[in-house]
Amino acid sequence: METKELSATALKYQTLSPDLIRNIFAEKEIDKEWSFEGYKHSDTAKWTHGYHRYPAKFIPQLVERLINEYIGGKKAHINDPFMGSGTTIVTAISRGFKASGTDINRIAYLMTKVKSTPINPEYLHKKITQFLSKLAFLQEPNNLLKGTIEPLIPQQHIERINYWFTEENKNILGKILKVIYNEKDTTIKDFFLVTFSHILKNCSIWLQGSTKPTRDLKKKPTNPYIALKRQLKKMERGNKAFYEVVPEKVRGNIQDYLNIKIGNARHQPVPDSSVDLIISSSPYVTSYEYADLHQLSTIWLDLADDLTEYKKEFIGTAYKKYEGKILRGKIAEEIVDQMHTKSPKMAKEIEAFFLDMERVFDESFRILKPGGRCCYVIGDTRLKGVDILNAEVFAESLQYSGFILDRIIKREIPLKILPQKRDEKTGRFASNNDANSEAYPVEYIVIGLKE
Ligand SMILES: C[S@@+](CC[C@H](N)C(=O)[O-])C[C@H]1O[C@@H](n2cnc3c(N)ncnc32)[C@H](O)[C@@H]1O
Repeated sequence: METKELSATALKYQTLSPDLIRNIFAEKEIDKEWSFEGYKHSDTAKWTHGYHRYPAKFIPQLVERLINEYIGGKKAHINDPFMGSGTTIVTAISRGFKASGTDINRIAYLMTKVKSTPINPEYLHKKITQFLSKLAFLQEPNNLLKGTIEPLIPQQHIERINYWFTEENKNILGKILKVIYNEKDTTIKDFFLVTFSHILKNCSIWLQGSTKPTRDLKKKPTNPYIALKRQLKKMERGNKAFYEVVPEKVRGNIQDYLNIKIGNARHQPVPDSSVDLIISSSPYVTSYEYADLHQLSTIWLDLADDLTEYKKEFIGTAYKKYEGKILRGKIAEEIVDQMHTKSPKMAKEIEAFFLDMERVFDESFRILKPGGRCCYVIGDTRLKGVDILNAEVFAESLQYSGFILDRIIKREIPLKILPQKRDEKTGRFASNNDANSEAYPVEYIVIGLKE
């Protein structure tokens, strides 16, 4: 069959061979409508979406559009097994839908929870005012000598904290954290913890704009109190806007709508056949070490007892390997074989990533209602001269989990949103200056249908 002639219906009614899948992707044209060009920062960071930076988060407009296309009624259950900063979950709640999901990254879970929980704006304003007034002494000269607050600095991570923070900022941050932990209302406490987590990078000597944990000994870190005040103001505005769009019945009963957990994407906290739509973007193999990237939050908020063990739970990291497991997908197998000739170590990492994703797709199939769809956003790349056809692998794998390959969307990624380069040797994303290979100028939305 000529692949050019493949219509959406043709895609639906056959199990596609690896060759056919490869051809479909090779001939796929960019769908300009899915680039969301012209959207400003105020659009992509609206409501609570701008609470915290997060690598590879997708823009809310993409989630909104998928929901508009696939959800007809007023009731729905949306799931995201890789919530990240919670874009899908926040959008689902804004529509008054049920939202469920997981992330292995504890800081991602906290962010998602806070971002999708609307708080009465007047109450929040009162709480922020009280909070800042308790810390007002920090504005004064020689602030550390004033005030009676004993700084709370997690001693079990003191070496890492000393590595990243100046003595002064360490103490100011410790005082702020102490006041946060004294807050009795957990919704408010978590809100402040997200603020705290967000300001850590600027208040440390982490090289500005770097996606790798690198120190900049010449950096003048921001004063934590000033950063805190600024970020609280921004988040207060975001909460108000979000509160206004969330339906009243959801605002008052958020626990009935929000079902999210810290955990592995392979185990969703929902029964069989209960979800209408899955919208997710998986981790990329060897791209970001999320555990490393969020280490400032992890150490200050004491989110992992053992950072090395914690890292192993993440999908797509260099810390993961499986022995004796066989991939179902032929495209995946070929990529792993090709990589094996270049780097057996990297071949193992890629194999582990594809194996993990096969299990995640099985779980997506289990939880979807008949007629439901899963939409996975993913890009292809090239590592050590080998084409890593992630999207093609996903398309093939979805079929083995029981899905019909329903639709493939190819979209351009606006330059601002993702770093465009990756280091060919390590496969990690890098800033545009220090990498030598194009990363993800385009990406795909691979959509599976459960009949
Ligand atoms: C590309 S990000 C998702 C970004 C998200 N779409 C957003 O808008 O913020 C992928 C996420 O997968 C998470 N992750 C990695 N391994 C996981 C696992 N085994 N189970 C669940 N989540 C995992 C990472 O922590 C990361 O948050």
